Amino acid sequence: MGGTMKLLLRAARGEAVPRPPVWFMRQAGRSLPEYRALRADVGMLESCRRPDLVCEITLQPVRRHKVDAAILFSDIVVPLRAAGIDLDIVAGTGPVVASPVRTADDVAAIRPLEPGDVAFVAEAIRLLLAELGETALIGFAGAPFTLASYLVEGGPSRHHAKTKALMYGAPDVWHALCARLASITRVFLEVQIAAGVDAVQLFDSWAGSLSEADYRRYVLPHSRAVLDGLTVPRIHFGVGTGELLPAMAEAGADVVGVDWRTPLDVAASRVPGKVLQGNLDPCVLTAPWPVVAAETRRVVAEGKKAPGHIFNLGHGVLPETDPDVLTRLVEVVQSS
Ligand code: CP3
Repeated sequence: MGGTMKLLLRAARGEAVPRPPVWFMRQAGRSLPEYRALRADVGMLESCRRPDLVCEITLQPVRRHKVDAAILFSDIVVPLRAAGIDLDIVAGTGPVVASPVRTADDVAAIRPLEPGDVAFVAEAIRLLLAELGETALIGFAGAPFTLASYLVEGGPSRHHAKTKALMYGAPDVWHALCARLASITRVFLEVQIAAGVDAVQLFDSWAGSLSEADYRRYVLPHSRAVLDGLTVPRIHFGVGTGELLPAMAEAGADVVGVDWRTPLDVAASRVPGKVLQGNLDPCVLTAPWPVVAAETRRVVAEGKKAPGHIFNLGHGVLPETDPDVLTRLVEVVQSS
């Protein structure tokens, strides 16, 4: 195949492809015994700072499942930590921030990210590109709203109530915070692109908690500042964003990520002209194999209504997923 463009890139550009490329959000990680073994004695943030570990963990699902793309092993809070924000990833909980961001002074204390702060990411990408061959490498970052929700809440939250209190109650502080986060995220993605990733995905995982009007007013300009003019295909993803798909496409997306709640043929009519990524319910992977196979074929068929389709789950692989089911699922998509 040497010389031909990687399948994922062709699909992302809306070019005709023989079958959809396939990869999974969170394909590297908790579902894999080889990952759990590597991480046994290494903290999550430490593992993200070690290029040798990042490279090995990123490659594990590629070797095992033969997916068409690798996603860099990291976390959305890695650039925030690298910019000096005191936070940690606590096992079983997620990101925890030492001093939540609530005031104009808190926002002013957030400094920009310098490319040198994330040199370890660029180094990991260089190691990966030497190994990946025709397999695409996807870089990623968290979008301003989703990052802000961790900083304002101080950790994971269900309703993002404090985040919204700041947004509605102190819009100037909110916009200043999101502008700083957009600048950090932009630098983080530019470092990954300069190091050679084939595409990037912006995770606005929690944007689905917003109405379309509020998304447009409080979030879209900041996500646009991140995505505008990037030089590789951009995948823009959130959970529960069926009502936000057109606005997220406007913020910037060559590929719109869709969760399992919106069938891909419906999504295709909401964002005409856009390539789609998704959207098998991760929970389906726990069902008997005939159900998994039938649901996979349904998603592939519905994806044909879009100008291009990258097969994925509607959100990340669940920890309890049997990795053999993922491998078989890849075979179904790749023979479709
Ligand atoms: O599989 C794993 O859990 C691997 C290790 C790990 C990651 N993040 C990798 C990651 C761990 C322990 C975390 C902590 C973390 N960070 C959590 C809790 C995870 C849990 O379920 O226990 C959460 C919620 C975060 C914050 C976060 N990180 C969000 C909201 C996102 C966006 C994606 C999403 O799931 O909505 C991330 C990105 C992330 N964390 C990736 C990886 C490997 C992204 C790349 C990918 O999809 O593979």
